Amino acid sequence: MSRYGQTPGGAVTVPDLAEMKKRGERIVMVTAYDYPGGRLADAAGVDVVLVGDSAAMTVLGRDSTVPATMDEMVMLTRAAARGAERPLVVADMPFGSFQISDEEALRNGVRFVKEAGAEAVKLEGAGPMVSRVHSLVGAGIAVMGHLGLTPQSAAMLGGFRAQGRTAEKAGRLLEDAIALEEAGCFSLVLEAVPAPVAARITGELTIPTIGIGSGAGCDGQVLVFHDLLGLYEGRAARFVKRYAEIGTEVRTALERFAADVRSGAFPEEEHTYSIPDEELAEFEAGLSPRRAESRSRE
Ligand code: KIV
Repeated sequence: MSRYGQTPGGAVTVPDLAEMKKRGERIVMVTAYDYPGGRLADAAGVDVVLVGDSAAMTVLGRDSTVPATMDEMVMLTRAAARGAERPLVVADMPFGSFQISDEEALRNGVRFVKEAGAEAVKLEGAGPMVSRVHSLVGAGIAVMGHLGLTPQSAAMLGGFRAQGRTAEKAGRLLEDAIALEEAGCFSLVLEAVPAPVAARITGELTIPTIGIGSGAGCDGQVLVFHDLLGLYEGRAARFVKRYAEIGTEVRTALERFAADVRSGAFPEEEHTYSIPDEELAEFEAGLSPRRAESRSRE
């Protein structure tokens, strides 16, 4: 049994999420990018683990999500999926991995399922992306949509800002959401959408919506692991709630370790291994003369 413990109950499936929406049970999703993250999310009883392309910023130190590559995302997904046994694991399709063609989207979706152990993929946008959803779902790959603030196209949206704040834009979001549901998405992330608009979209769809900065009317909520734990130094968005300051704790621990090494306080007796006296004596006696001489000069 892992030191973090185990969540009781069977693995969360795509149909389970639809059932949760019907029962009015809120869905908990969090991002994770490695084995301990997946383990901890599982132990905490999280329903869905998203291996988000936010990894490009939170763990790979890039300025945006755009540079994330398939190879990077496959490696991170594989690690998180090993840890997250009960939660549904969703891999985020990085920029460039699905925009070009249905075939390209399918090839990369298959990689996530076959090579990385993902149970579903997520992709941003609607319009031409609706056809990508069709082809992925047609091949048996579950797809989560993502509308509103879609960070991969932040430049086109005029930056990281709320979306759907006019009647016309809110109407377009609703149309896009319906198109994604009709194309076969099993769930939809709504990012930085005004709360009443997100609630209305949620009410119109039969698939669950997962909100981030979109109010309490969504069927579930997601936050980025590093944001909610206080591990990311960049400026947090308005919708982030910090549940811990792990970054400060880690830094303090590392400073204490460094101080102990420098002062000689670490390692102590309990951190070292012994050797029987006679073995040590034989070892010392067997040292080459040159080494023994240099030892005796010390
Ligand atoms: O990449 C990511 O982490 C995401 C979530 C913010 C929904 O897309």
